Amino acid sequence: MNKPLRIGIAGLGTVGTGVVQALRQHGDLIAARAGRRIEIAAVAARDKKKKRDVDLSSYRWVDDAAALAKDKDIDAVVELIGGAEGPARALVENALDNGKTVVTANKALLAHHGYDLAQRAERNGTTLFYEASAAGGIPIIKALREGFAGNEIRAVYGILNGTCNYILTEMRETGRDFAAVLKDAQDKGYAEADPATDIDGIDAAHKLCILGTLAFGIRPEIGRVRTAGISAVTAADIAHATELGYRIKLLGIAQRHDDGSVVQSVEPCLVPVGTTIGAVEGVFNAVLVEGDFAGNNLSVGRGAGRGPTASAVVADLVDCAQGLKRPVFGIAAAQMKPAKWADPGAAAGHFYIHFIVKDRPGVLADIAAVMRDNDVSIESVLQRGRNPENPVSIVMTTHHAKRAAIDAACAQIGKLKAITGKPCLMRIETF
Ligand code: NDP
Ligand code: HSE
Repeated sequence: MNKPLRIGIAGLGTVGTGVVQALRQHGDLIAARAGRRIEIAAVAARDKKKKRDVDLSSYRWVDDAAALAKDKDIDAVVELIGGAEGPARALVENALDNGKTVVTANKALLAHHGYDLAQRAERNGTTLFYEASAAGGIPIIKALREGFAGNEIRAVYGILNGTCNYILTEMRETGRDFAAVLKDAQDKGYAEADPATDIDGIDAAHKLCILGTLAFGIRPEIGRVRTAGISAVTAADIAHATELGYRIKLLGIAQRHDDGSVVQSVEPCLVPVGTTIGAVEGVFNAVLVEGDFAGNNLSVGRGAGRGPTASAVVADLVDCAQGLKRPVFGIAAAQMKPAKWADPGAAAGHFYIHFIVKDRPGVLADIAAVMRDNDVSIESVLQRGRNPENPVSIVMTTHHAKRAAIDAACAQIGKLKAITGKPCLMRIETF
């Protein structure tokens, strides 16, 4: 057999230890598939003394992960530290500059610096693999870069954050509160080091940015993903959505219009219960690709956690062992053009709005008047109970309306005296 691929792993947390486990457990199988063995030459993390789930005693410990970039005994660096800046960025940049192949699960780094890294890899005659960066165990990077290479892609969208989908599912199914379910997601290794990254939609935005870049051949621009998270979604919203026949999902949507302009958003949306995406629950992710020749293609799988993520990293290592040197985003960096961005406010659709109001005569009429003035037509209204002493909920769904009009109406309604708190607005996605 050919000489082994020697790797250095930086980061031995949920994902790093999973990769060590997979390489130990399936060493022969992976070697057969890769055509040579994949050997761990060195490992690095912050704290050598920390107790970990895997036996690392046979691997060389490196105190400073940065040293892996220049380590002569290493062919490929596996970066599993995380973060768009700091040690992860420095390690990846230096490893590429030293001609080493890099494998990473770091979506924040790719979303912020992907174009620079693609250029850097090309300049140094090497490449960067990142299958684990989006949708966990679903091989969506390979699918977009290779499987759909014959298609013009019109849209890529879906559920891209396992932690949020887990929280929304558990809250609905068990009635547990947000904080308890989040803690559970952290214990299971789903959440980012700072879970606000998940909850605020930032992690899903990073992933969408990577998928949009691959799908449309554009440069990644994380600032162009309109992003909202799930922290404003309450147990009452989940109950109202259920009553109306929907599930609440944090959706990432990247679309290319006929004029070539692109729009990207991450936000909680209502999805009909009967749809496939509506049925994707728990830590599972779903990604739908609309290709002009392939048609619609939906992939579903575990989106976070040790096993699925390690599976994706090892798949990259097999490509790496086979000497694959594809352009990082599927096309040469010089061909990646800045996108023409569409105005997200021009998008239109149906919406769900939840107002908390003081229960007094005329409130509904006041809300309806603002909707009328903004040319928004109401489809249905739900109000439960009567309680002049305490605030009550009014839930509306709208007919087809422009996003900008809905945003303007909600801002005006939010200022009415009878309204308490900020209205909760969510798009209804019927695909
Ligand atoms: P963890 O927080 O579990 O692990 C991070 C590891 O990085 C730890 O071992 C830590 O060391 C090490 N580390 C931190 N700072 C340094 C440093 N300066 N030098 C060397 N090592 C350092 O994170 P995850 O394993 O969950 O995530 C790793 C990457 O994978 C991130 O980019 C994340 O976004 C991505 N990812 C995670 C998924 C998941 O489900 N968890 C899924 C897909 C991608 P120590 O242990 O000593 O503290
Ligand atoms: N925190 C991420 C999630 C990990 O929950 O989806 C997988 O990328």
